[in-house]
Amino acid sequence: MTKHVLPEKHSDTFRSEIVEGLKAWQKKISSKWLYDDVGSHLFEAITELDAYYPTRTELGLLAKNARKYSRLPGARGAMVELGSGSSRKTNLLLDAFPDLSVYMPIDISANHLKEAADRVRRAHPALAVIPVSADFTQPLKQLPLLPELPVLVFFPGSTIGNFERSEAIQLLKNIKAAMPEASMVVGVDRPKKEEVLLKAYDDPAGVTAAFNRNLMQRVNRELGANFELSTFAHRAVWNSEDSRIEMHLESLEDQEVTVSGETFSFMKGETIHTENSHKYSEEAFTEIANEGGWRILDHDQDKRKPFSVYTLQAI
Ligand code: TRP
Repeated sequence: MTKHVLPEKHSDTFRSEIVEGLKAWQKKISSKWLYDDVGSHLFEAITELDAYYPTRTELGLLAKNARKYSRLPGARGAMVELGSGSSRKTNLLLDAFPDLSVYMPIDISANHLKEAADRVRRAHPALAVIPVSADFTQPLKQLPLLPELPVLVFFPGSTIGNFERSEAIQLLKNIKAAMPEASMVVGVDRPKKEEVLLKAYDDPAGVTAAFNRNLMQRVNRELGANFELSTFAHRAVWNSEDSRIEMHLESLEDQEVTVSGETFSFMKGETIHTENSHKYSEEAFTEIANEGGWRILDHDQDKRKPFSVYTLQAI
């Protein structure tokens, strides 16, 4: 059974957020809407690409350090995973945590969540698997966890980099409010050569392009919109000032698109901003963690590809 923590009506939120974002001067759609069923599967495919270095780099770090993480108190209590992305990462930790009693993935895509939970149940029959269907960008209320159970939050994939800096701090505060004494294992991508970054977010096989463009299909399907997919292109750009990769959908012509009964005009070259992926140095991330109410216990990093896995403790 999937627990519904937030009593939100998803489709209303979806409609109002999309319409509001398209009214902005720089049109934008929050990246969390990329992850419908199709999007979640396309994202899994991205994580298998040669060009997409973060997944394998992080997997290597997790494999190397899993036994160390197993000494955190939460490894004998509950592991709460934010996003139920790659089951490979999850299984790696679950295999190293034989004394864990609860695994609680939290994900915005209910079906993806269910698939991930079922996979974990099959591999770890003794574990209580409690999936929670929720938008963790909103404050997390009443997680079904016993207060005496120590908690380890697992937040991989550099997902924290997909938030604006101030939102990332707020998210860390929200996590701490929901799980006051938790520790956290969090993956954070670091700045690196622009060409490496661009290839990871605009791969030669076009999987990332398909992932980004699926957003238009989703809006067409769920909000009766009429995006003409062939008239928009996937763009990945490096914004050095904000140290982030941005993804956009660029209109290839002047045109109008109707979404949920409202009409939006696009000039040729105008974009919808669909994603940020911030790349944080150790200094930059330490500041964010501290402002969010966490201190850094440990920092594991890869020598070849700059990528960090931090162990944090709620202060
Ligand atoms: N957390 C991932 C990242 O920032 C998300 C991601 C990877 C992503 N590739 C993407 C999001 C492409 C949108 C499009 O790397």
